Amino acid sequence: MKSLFLYTIAFLAAGSFWPQGSQASVGVQVASAQYLLGLGVGDVTGPVVETNMMGYANLAQTDTGLHMRQRSRAFIVADASNSSNRVVFINSDICMGDTGVRRSIVAELSSQYPGIYTNDNIALVGTHQHSGVGGYLEDLLPQITSLGYVKQSADAIVAGSVRAVQQAHDSLSPGKLSLGNTTVLNANINRSPSAYLANPADERAKYQYDQDKDLTLLRFDDIDGNARGFLSFFAVHGTSLYENNTLVSADNKGMAAYLYESMVEPSSMPGHATFVAGFTQSNVGDTSPNTLGAYCESPGEPYDGQPCEFDHSTCGNRTEDCHGRGPGFRISDFESSRIIGQLQFEGAQTLMNQTLPPVNGSVKAVHTYLDMATHSFTLPNGTTAQTCPAALGFSFAGGTTDGPGAFDFIQGDNSSNPQNPFWEIVKGAVTPLPSAEQVACQYPKPILLNTGYAHVPYEWSPSTVDIQMLRVGNLVMLIMPGELTTMSGRRMRDAMRAKLISEGILGEDAYVVIAGPANTYAHYVATREEYGVQRYEGASTIFGASTLDAYIDKYGSLVSFLADNASGAPASDPAPAEQTSKAISLQTPVIVDNSPLGKKFGDVLVDINNTPYHVGDTVTVQFVGANPRNNLRLEGSFLSVDYNVADQWSMVRTDSHPSTIYRWNRTSTVFGTSTVTISWTIEDGTPAGTYRISYFGDSKPLIGSISSFNGTSSTFTVA
Ligand SMILES: *[C@@H]1O[C@H](CO)[C@@H](O)[C@H](O)[C@H]1NC(C)=O
Ligand SMILES: *[C@@H]1O[C@H](CO)[C@@H](O)[C@H](O)[C@H]1NC(C)=O
Ligand SMILES: *[C@@H]1O[C@H](CO)[C@@H](O)[C@H](O)[C@H]1NC(C)=O
Ligand SMILES: *[C@@H]1O[C@H](CO)[C@@H](O)[C@H](O)[C@H]1NC(C)=O
Ligand SMILES: *[C@@H]1O[C@H](CO)[C@@H](O)[C@H](O)[C@H]1NC(C)=O
Ligand SMILES: *[C@@H]1O[C@H](CO)[C@@H](O)[C@H](O)[C@H]1NC(C)=O
Ligand SMILES: *[C@@H]1O[C@H](CO)[C@@H](O)[C@H](O)[C@H]1NC(C)=O
Ligand SMILES: *[C@@H]1O[C@H](CO)[C@@H](O)[C@H](O)[C@H]1NC(C)=O
Ligand SMILES: *[C@@H]1O[C@H](CO)[C@@H](O)[C@H](O)[C@H]1NC(C)=O
Ligand SMILES: *[C@@H]1O[C@H](CO)[C@@H](O)[C@H](O)[C@H]1NC(C)=O
Ligand SMILES: *[C@@H]1O[C@H](CO)[C@@H](O)[C@H](O)[C@H]1NC(C)=O
Repeated sequence: MKSLFLYTIAFLAAGSFWPQGSQASVGVQVASAQYLLGLGVGDVTGPVVETNMMGYANLAQTDTGLHMRQRSRAFIVADASNSSNRVVFINSDICMGDTGVRRSIVAELSSQYPGIYTNDNIALVGTHQHSGVGGYLEDLLPQITSLGYVKQSADAIVAGSVRAVQQAHDSLSPGKLSLGNTTVLNANINRSPSAYLANPADERAKYQYDQDKDLTLLRFDDIDGNARGFLSFFAVHGTSLYENNTLVSADNKGMAAYLYESMVEPSSMPGHATFVAGFTQSNVGDTSPNTLGAYCESPGEPYDGQPCEFDHSTCGNRTEDCHGRGPGFRISDFESSRIIGQLQFEGAQTLMNQTLPPVNGSVKAVHTYLDMATHSFTLPNGTTAQTCPAALGFSFAGGTTDGPGAFDFIQGDNSSNPQNPFWEIVKGAVTPLPSAEQVACQYPKPILLNTGYAHVPYEWSPSTVDIQMLRVGNLVMLIMPGELTTMSGRRMRDAMRAKLISEGILGEDAYVVIAGPANTYAHYVATREEYGVQRYEGASTIFGASTLDAYIDKYGSLVSFLADNASGAPASDPAPAEQTSKAISLQTPVIVDNSPLGKKFGDVLVDINNTPYHVGDTVTVQFVGANPRNNLRLEGSFLSVDYNVADQWSMVRTDSHPSTIYRWNRTSTVFGTSTVTISWTIEDGTPAGTYRISYFGDSKPLIGSISSFNGTSSTFTVA
């Protein structure tokens, strides 16, 4: 009864039932229900075929099907005594946040919920997975391999993220938060240890590892202490799946979320559980999930199978053959993704199994825009420093051991000697040649792409970024517009924590985490020392050597807005100009789908075989297909595995179960025919009985509208 009372009070306080001002009268009662909490999930999966994938910037990585859908998970925390004070954290299975996508999400939510969800309190954080659908970013550079902007991809992210927030909003109810951390070993390594070693020895001596091994978890309970979900933070790249994977998936963090949600609610379909497990990215910059290390895959060469060269990650002086190996190396990269996901899952479960210290105190958000192109500020030692217009170094094109580059680019190239004369000529044709001032500002980065000076046909890289912090009690989340390296993250967190304490905003229990890449994608943030070495992360620190110090200075200047009694908003640079309306898009639309002569869409071309199947077997069926870009079937599925109980078919697997794979193949461009191949690898614990596989598609005639169809395999038994 007590909880019902609190529920009612807080519910009323949350809504607009009472006129402003009368809320003060219930302030005393609601003090024991500190927070209103809401959680939700939305499907954000863009076109799963004929679209470039986001992360490796590899033209050849065009998607051909679906392994697991991408989701946005939304977490709302509002102060029960004054629900104007609220934050919404969107953790999305996308490579990174984006200015244009965030702008659309903010516009949609602030028109649906005026004054409640705003540009200040909405954070869009990407899990930094590299197996999702690309083409959604607003700046030109990341659009190059996707042949421009893919509206369908951006629209799916916006719609699914808004849906997640709506669901979270509709579920708002009084609850409790608690916070803890644990150590997760064997789930990450440093992929640029030679750059890490450039950091001062006394600073490195403070840490046991060259990676952060802490997983931090904010637990969401209802008022009776029943878990509703959590938001966790752990730094590891979403590169368990390599650039030769063409199935859309969610990599290790999406896998961890699937494992957790399906453990709590085994009968819910993926993405449709009420328990929401958030696995958020943190200071990811130099982390790798490929924990066995990087080796030369150079058949026939004497160094085949040897570790790559340490400083430059090369094999025979080239990067192409140097590949990081995940823990499932001998099996598959999907197995590596599962193992790294499982380790994060276990870290979260360790904390969920404990009673964690409660979180209490104010809910606050602060947001501002900062133009990083030529930002002057004062370093702690009194010297004036300046950031530079964006530029990427030669080592950017060297790639990393998770996804090596091409040609003769290598990592760790900080030489001022002329580079390969061919690239010296080509680079001037791609972006404007850097001025002497820009060269000096970016020193010692040898500039390959001078993107800060490339504005045609629209901006190639951002110069204005989102600076944002969210506070929930003693937890402060730094929402970062890029990928901080391990040491950058430590410096950033330590500086903010010290400031929060010295300004009297929080006590010794102040707990600071980094979440990113979020909101705007401004590439990497290496320390000044790592920048000097110019491995991939330093070469991709686009605003120059002082980038990290500029963020420390700016975020630090805003912590006062997180105080209990803070009001107002900080000064802001102008918001970045909208570019989506100018976007170039070269992706060909779907022209037509046809079935072969004498067949219909959904007809079975290759059926199951008649033998009984067993756990571990893969059942495969091929259908007459149509292009899945015709209908993304968001919140739905391109397939189902159906189980027959008492003569009723019920769906037991969707296209989002990791055991199922959906593949599409255009068999004739001229005739517009295609096939869909669905496979299901039977999991341990699958009940014996009768099953079938169904396919759901949508075909586009040359003239007229798209229509749905379906097809079903013969039934089969699992023994
Ligand atoms: C609730 O918080 C908002 C924002 O901090 C503030 O403007 C408003 O005055 C507060 N309302 C009450 C009733 O305290
Ligand atoms: C983890 O929690 C402990 C206290 O339980 C704290 O001392 C430690 O600093 C925390 N780790 C991080 C990374 O904040
Ligand atoms: C993908 O690339 C990795 C790393 O080079 C390699 O180990 C793996 O065999 C490749 N997978 C396929 C399916 O070609
Ligand atoms: C790599 O380059 C160095 C220096 O240019 C050279 O001495 C060495 O032979 C090269 N190694 C290979 C395997 O080509
Ligand atoms: C959490 O508790 C459950 C139930 O007692 C147990 O099965 C599981 O192994 C525990 N997980 C961890 C990581 O300790
Ligand atoms: C707030 O949390 C701390 C522990 O994190 C606890 O010691 C304190 O009693 C709590 N305060 C309230 C008002 O619940
Ligand atoms: C202040 O720090 C910067 C960055 O580390 C350094 O380049 C500069 O020389 C320092 N200035 C003084 C006066 O020590
Ligand atoms: C360039 O990198 C090397 C290590 O590879 C380092 O010793 C040197 O100091 C760097 N140069 C600059 C200007 O930072
Ligand atoms: C907030 O409180 C602190 C100390 O309690 C005080 O120094 C500061 O001036 C207050 N700020 C505002 C905006 O009232
Ligand atoms: C796709 O279909 C074409 C034409 O039938 C065939 O040659 C090719 O092998 C198929 N690709 C896959 C991956 O099945
Ligand atoms: C499959 O197609 C049939 C015939 O068009 C239709 O009646 C049925 O509702 C469809 N089933 C599903 C699950 O969409």
